[in-house]
Amino acid sequence: MVLAFFLTGCRSQEHQQNESLAADSTFGQKHRPQIHFTPKEKWMNDPNGMVYHKGQYHLFYQYYPEDIVWGPMHWGHAVSKDLIHWTHLPIALYPDSLGLIFSGSAVVDKLNTSGFGSKKNPPLVAVYTYHSQEKEKAGRTDYQYQGIAYSTDDGNTWIKYEGNPVLKNQGIKDFRDPKVFYHNESSKWVMILAVKDHVELWGSSNLKAWSKLSDFGSDYGAHGGVWECPDLFEMTLDGGATRKWVMIVSLNPGGPNGGSATQYFVGEFDGAKFTPDTHSSKIKWIDYGPDNYAGVTWSNTPGDRKIFLGWMSNWSYAQELPTMTWRGAATLPRDMTLTRVNNDVFVTSSVVDELVVISEGKKELGSLQVDKTVTLADEGFEAVSQFVLRGTFKAEDFAVVVSNSKDQSIRVGYDSGAGRFFIDRGKSGNVTFSKQFPTEIFSPRLDSDDEIEMTMVLDHSSVEVFFDNGLSVMTSLFFPDEPLSSISIHSSHPTKVARISLQKLRSIWK
Ligand code: FRU
Repeated sequence: MVLAFFLTGCRSQEHQQNESLAADSTFGQKHRPQIHFTPKEKWMNDPNGMVYHKGQYHLFYQYYPEDIVWGPMHWGHAVSKDLIHWTHLPIALYPDSLGLIFSGSAVVDKLNTSGFGSKKNPPLVAVYTYHSQEKEKAGRTDYQYQGIAYSTDDGNTWIKYEGNPVLKNQGIKDFRDPKVFYHNESSKWVMILAVKDHVELWGSSNLKAWSKLSDFGSDYGAHGGVWECPDLFEMTLDGGATRKWVMIVSLNPGGPNGGSATQYFVGEFDGAKFTPDTHSSKIKWIDYGPDNYAGVTWSNTPGDRKIFLGWMSNWSYAQELPTMTWRGAATLPRDMTLTRVNNDVFVTSSVVDELVVISEGKKELGSLQVDKTVTLADEGFEAVSQFVLRGTFKAEDFAVVVSNSKDQSIRVGYDSGAGRFFIDRGKSGNVTFSKQFPTEIFSPRLDSDDEIEMTMVLDHSSVEVFFDNGLSVMTSLFFPDEPLSSISIHSSHPTKVARISLQKLRSIWK
């Protein structure tokens, strides 16, 4: 992001909370997502502190409670029992004399290594970046450092550690976004930190004292911009027979469709050092679309699940999005798995199964013969503006078009000649609010199967598309004058689409 402008002033806790209660709770404003997390009002960016604890998924997020542009950062807070419905809670962390509260993570300190709780009542510990505007304005380079805060009441209230900062800055401008996990094999906490053009790994026995383990990345992966918001975790492969480590790193700018995007590496981690499996020039993206940034995974999730969630925006135009009372949303939560394709290992993503809690009116359309155009749903079909469309297409040219009566539409499909998927949002409504808003978005096809399985989730101002079982993913925002609710499939030659279904989704706010 560009930290070139600064707004001052942080409201008192009481003032903020009273106003939040008075905020519009209908979530009915133009463009307001109905199946995605958004704050009640004002600006949000990165998800932070994602931790599962006692049946609840905590979601903190970069929040500026004064305006709908970026400003002095707080941690907003919400919880969910099912990853779909969210309850907004009071702001968890406010800026203090050490600085603004930038991105970071949270863990359950089960062994009470920090001493903030007890083994009987393990504390939650948040690890985040302090950003000192005073130091930055004074022309210093050491203005970002890491702090911790803890909660002994299951995340309701947070106390900042009096020994902050726990990791000081040695004079590097970009030194931020700690993601912490417990490494069982070496019985210690590991922090992955974004440092300008690489990540650093740090180790600790108590979350308070940190020592450097290693560096990774200055000669690997994409480097079109600064590295931010990393994550590192182990996943299984080959039905559990193999284990691999996956490192996620967001990058801004330098994404495949311009601006912000998130790349990943698959490799090994020995408790100190990460070693990637593949060659340094091979770049893999979690999501090729322009609107999924700064995403990481929940810690402490039940079973072996790796659940990812990103900020559904792009720093190139995030502050200009044409929304009024709030600005910013999260992607849908996604389960991530590993899969082998052509002797290489890739991350695949799919929307969490919990989405079923808001599903209604499923239309199983079976197989469809498409001779140029087939209409699946028009405005007569109870105006479907939040839905999941699934289908299996031949790997030939096709487009799914979702439109409204103003002839505004998005087109999503496959270009077989170019071997790539596309989203065309050029006629989707307001596309002129920023010159940086790309209208044609592409993703390479990584699979070579004869059939393309596609799952597309549409909300009032976003579409998330998962091709080839989530091997190629694209997330894109759009801003029509009225919701898009007519769906048709187009193909240049007669073709058959199998297993096509349309599932309407209920608003999560009603
Ligand atoms: C990523 C980011 C982080 C930083 C935060 C500030 O979007 O730039 O690196 O911690 O946003 O809000």
